[in-house]
Amino acid sequence: MTVVLAIETSCDETAVAIVNNRKVLSSVVASQIEIHRPYGGVVPEVASRHHLEIINDCIDQALTEAQLTWDDLDGIAATCAPGLVGALLVGVTAAKTLALLYDKPFLGVHHLEGHIYASYLSEPQLQPPFICLLVSGGHTSLIRVKHSGDYETLGSTRDDAAGEAFDKVARLLDLGYPGGPAIDKIAKQGNPKAFPLPEGRISLPGGGYHPYDCSFSGLKTAVLRLVQKLKAEGDDLPVADVAASFQDTVARALTKRAIACALDNNLDRIVVGGGVAANSALRSRLETAAQPHGIRVYFPPLRWCTDNAAMIAAAACDRLSQNQVSALSLGVQSRLDVTDAIALYD
Ligand code: KG4
Ligand code: ZN
Repeated sequence: MTVVLAIETSCDETAVAIVNNRKVLSSVVASQIEIHRPYGGVVPEVASRHHLEIINDCIDQALTEAQLTWDDLDGIAATCAPGLVGALLVGVTAAKTLALLYDKPFLGVHHLEGHIYASYLSEPQLQPPFICLLVSGGHTSLIRVKHSGDYETLGSTRDDAAGEAFDKVARLLDLGYPGGPAIDKIAKQGNPKAFPLPEGRISLPGGGYHPYDCSFSGLKTAVLRLVQKLKAEGDDLPVADVAASFQDTVARALTKRAIACALDNNLDRIVVGGGVAANSALRSRLETAAQPHGIRVYFPPLRWCTDNAAMIAAAACDRLSQNQVSALSLGVQSRLDVTDAIALYD
C-alpha cells in the first residue's frame, strides 16, 4: 500500500488527488477554462496566479474527500515537467514545502508519464509492455512502454500537437476555446466525408513515408484555405461538415500510425492518453481498426483523459514503491522527453 498526494499545475487546471497505488481516494480538479476563455487560449501569467490563489483550498478538499490526514500519506508529488514554468512552480513549491513540513518523500513527476498512468486508474491490472498513443494539447507521440517507467518514443508530430490542431481549427471556425470538445460536439451533426483534407505525411530521405511520425500544420492550413474559399463563395459556412471532415482526418492519421506501431512491435495493446483521447471519432475509429488485428485498445474514462492529479499520483506511487524519490533541489522544466523521466529521481 502506497498512498500519495499529488499536485498538477502544468497548464490551466489546478488539480490535487490522493491515490493508493491505482485506487483513487480523492480527486479535485479546478479548471481555469472560464478565466482564459476571453483570451482564446491559456495566458501563462494568469494561470500561475490563479493556481496560487486556489492551491491551498484544493489540497484541503482532497484530504477531506479522502478522509485522510497528513500522517496517512507516504509521499507528496507534483508535476515538474513539461509545462508552463510559472504554473509548474506553484505546484512543485507547494509539494516540496509540504514534504519538508510533514517529513515525507517528495516526487517530481513527468506530466506525460501521468497521462500514460491514467489508463491504470480504470484498468488496475494493466501492465507493460504496450504502445501508448499520447495525444494532448502540447504533445503527440507513440511511445513503447517496455517496463514500468521505461519508455521509447517511436513516433511524434513534426509540428503541431493533435490537441493544438483542434484548438487552432476551432478558433478558425469561431467555436471558442478549448477547441477539442467544441469540434467533437458540432462534428456529430456534420458529414466527415464532406471535404477531403490532406493527412500530413512525413517523407523519408530514401523514399516513402515515416510510418509513425505525423504532421498537423498542413491540415490546419488546408482547413484555413477551405474556409476562405467557402466564405468567398458567399454561402453560409458549413461549420459542422468542416469540423467533421477535419476531425475524421486527424482520427484516421492517428489510428493508422498507432495500429502500424503496435503490429510492427508485436504488441497487442494500445493505451491512449491525453486530452484528445476524449475525442469520439478517435475512440470509434481506433476501436474498429484494432479489432480485426486482435489488438485491445484502452481509453481512460473522460475525466482521466484531460489533466488531473490522480494520474500524477498513480505514477508517483509506482516510483515510490520502487524506492525512487526526487531531491528537494529538483527544478521545473518547460520541456523534457518522457524517455528522460528517470532523471527526475535520485
Ligand atoms: O491533456 P490535456 O488536458 O492537456 C495537455 O496536457 O495539453 O489536453 C488538452 C487538449 C486540448 O487541446 C483540447 O482541445 C483537447 O485536449 N481535447 C480534445 C477533446 N477534449 C479535449 N480534443 C479533441 N476531442 C475532444 N473531445
Ligand atoms: Zn496533459
